[in-house]
Amino acid sequence: MKILIGITGCIALYKVAELVSSLRKSGNELKIVMTQSAEKLVSKDLFSAVGNCEVYSDSNAFEIKNGFIPHTELSKWPDVFVVAPATANTIAKIAHGIADNLLTMVCLAHDGNKKLLVPAMNYRMYENAATQANLQILRDRGWWILEPSVGHLACGEFGKGRYPENELVREAIEILNSEKPLKDMKLLITAGPTWESIDPVRIISNRSSGKMGYELAKMAVRLGATVTLISGPTNLSVPHFVNEFIRVESAQQMFDAVTKKFDQMDAVIMAAAVADYTPIDISKSKIKKDSDELNIPLKKTIDILKYLGERKKDKILVGFAVETDSLEEYAKEKMVKKNLDMIIANKAEAMGNDQNNVIIFKRDGIVKRVGPDEKGRIALAILSELAELWNRS
Ligand code: CTP
Repeated sequence: MKILIGITGCIALYKVAELVSSLRKSGNELKIVMTQSAEKLVSKDLFSAVGNCEVYSDSNAFEIKNGFIPHTELSKWPDVFVVAPATANTIAKIAHGIADNLLTMVCLAHDGNKKLLVPAMNYRMYENAATQANLQILRDRGWWILEPSVGHLACGEFGKGRYPENELVREAIEILNSEKPLKDMKLLITAGPTWESIDPVRIISNRSSGKMGYELAKMAVRLGATVTLISGPTNLSVPHFVNEFIRVESAQQMFDAVTKKFDQMDAVIMAAAVADYTPIDISKSKIKKDSDELNIPLKKTIDILKYLGERKKDKILVGFAVETDSLEEYAKEKMVKKNLDMIIANKAEAMGNDQNNVIIFKRDGIVKRVGPDEKGRIALAILSELAELWNRS
């Protein structure tokens, strides 16, 4: 992807060096424009080296070589245009069409719709009605404004104005640059294991890490879906930009949360490894090791997916089948039994790994094998099949 990065004179610009370096490492082509104030803080050479790219500044504004007029050529060049960090001053200029340096000239000449602004400044400057009004003007003109985070600021004060984590900026760039085949889809994804309590300190659970479900949620956001993620206990951080995140513990809680949301959804992917059995009684106090053997009577949990399948109407339902044996046979059987549109079959050993190797079965007989590959790319393959079902319906 071609990314043009505008850098303005905010102390947080040192963090943009890491952003530039990581964007370069993931194979993007970069160009950078710095304002004069940015150049006062850090030399152009640093960004040129970490980005392996050309860095322009005001001294290049009128360097017209072989018909290359910097501001117009740069404005037409990128797939995604990012201004990070963006000072209150530059925000004000862009909002009001002032073009008094190379960066603001480029902003005025740029007519793309994949543009991201990452404000960073003192919190009083950020909260000032003038800045807020300027940001609103830019939002209305199609800029995605990434909210600054709350924390310690370079000036020693505390408040909302910090440059956000670069991971958030990178994910926003990916979202801007992705096709949106799931646009308008309200998608519910479940992830992770469930915990079934035995007593106040012990549980029955399984080896699911939640990675597959979390990657599906992250990628579905990129592809334009409005995503609700319902997750059992995991060690993963909540994927950026999911619209709603609901944490649950037991199969019963997952059932309650899923059924509460079901009516509003267009599609559901049940990637969670829901416990099939749960203790009949939860001991109120910790069970003591008085006997040599311990039997815990279990009862079946509600099969959430089957329950949804019986009520699905025209919603799209996707399930997972984790098997140790007869993978394909059991998966196809589950797809029919639970009334699903698609089922993803994978071997039990993929649980907890970063990689997966899956077979996608669709109700119309289509079969696709994907992997072994990173769970992110497996998620994209699954979602492209979901998009095909969605655009068909
Ligand atoms: N599932 C569910 N509710 C349950 C158990 C499973 O919604 N109580 C969903 C899972 O999220 C998954 C699918 O059903 O999408 C398949 O789960 P799996 O445990 O592989 O299959 P089961 O139907 O439980 O059959 P079995 O355990 O006999 O293989």
